[in-house]
Amino acid sequence: MSNQIKEKAIEEITQADDLKKLEEIYRTYIGRKGKITEILRSLKDLSEKERKEKGKIANQIKQEISEMIKEKEHKLLAKKDKNEKDWIDVTAPGIKVPQGHLHPITLVQRQIEDIFQSMGFSILDGPEVETSYYNFDALNVPKDHPARDMHDTFWLKDLDLLLRTHTSPMQARYMEKNNPPLRIIIPGRCFRHEATDSTHDFQFYQVEGLMVGKNVSVANLKAIIEEFFKEFFSSSDIKIRLRPSYFPFVEPGFEVDIKRKGGDWIEVMGAGMVHPNVFKEVGYVDEWQGFAFGVGIDRLAMIKYQVDDIRLLYSSDLRFLKQF
Ligand code: FA5
Repeated sequence: MSNQIKEKAIEEITQADDLKKLEEIYRTYIGRKGKITEILRSLKDLSEKERKEKGKIANQIKQEISEMIKEKEHKLLAKKDKNEKDWIDVTAPGIKVPQGHLHPITLVQRQIEDIFQSMGFSILDGPEVETSYYNFDALNVPKDHPARDMHDTFWLKDLDLLLRTHTSPMQARYMEKNNPPLRIIIPGRCFRHEATDSTHDFQFYQVEGLMVGKNVSVANLKAIIEEFFKEFFSSSDIKIRLRPSYFPFVEPGFEVDIKRKGGDWIEVMGAGMVHPNVFKEVGYVDEWQGFAFGVGIDRLAMIKYQVDDIRLLYSSDLRFLKQF
């Protein structure tokens, strides 16, 4: 009798596939009114000898069944856990992946590229590691020019190589391989070994501009940069002024200042008419003339977005960057 019950119980436990059924099995066999419990309860009416024998078997069966139930319960619980983890609520709102955006310098660079492209200029790229020939010699920078000083230039171990101090080397690189007429701009990173302050960093971006033709004059230079600044600041209220200045690779040379409505004059670029020695070096003959300029992208970004310290642009500070 007890053995039949035991076999039935084992079969049911094996087949039970959820916790509810298992609970029922528990109640059927070893709960308060369970079959084994009843057998155990009925023992009191038997003779002592029979009670001992049957009692021993019934208790053993009770123990086996409860162990089996416990084991099965563990298995079912583990399965339930796994199922719950695998379950996907397709209607739940997604987790928003934070989206990045372009750096203010990139935004300004792209805007500058668009404006010059609309005026017929091509965009070129140049190496950040330069030879002293392109950075200085080809640009008519004398050997004793202070810019060559160890304090202004990051020289590489090989003393002929350096981190370009301006984007002008691309003037020589391009003209050497291409014939005029030409209109190009070259945006890129420059490096100078100098103390930093709110308007100077040891790394910064420039855009070089170069236009060469038969009749290109200072008037064209002024017209193009005036047009550029009006577009760049989306305002016709921009004044520009050219101040005489010296750069070995231009003659005459200028500093270009701009003034926005109600603001002060701010120096933003160097410019001038390409020096005959530079043309000679790249193999252009007399009939060509042209202008070149180098504008600081960081400075323009600072004016546009009213940033008062250039170093913020390179700080990787998210509190700053998230504003753009
Ligand atoms: C030059 O670098 C010349 N190559 C520009 C040029 C090109 C002149 C073609 C004539 C013809 P300058 O050193 O003034 O010139 O730099 C030009 C611009 O780069 C500056 O007006 C400024 O906007 C930016 N700039 C220069 N040094 C730094 C610096 N340390 N940090 C940030 N911006 C700088």
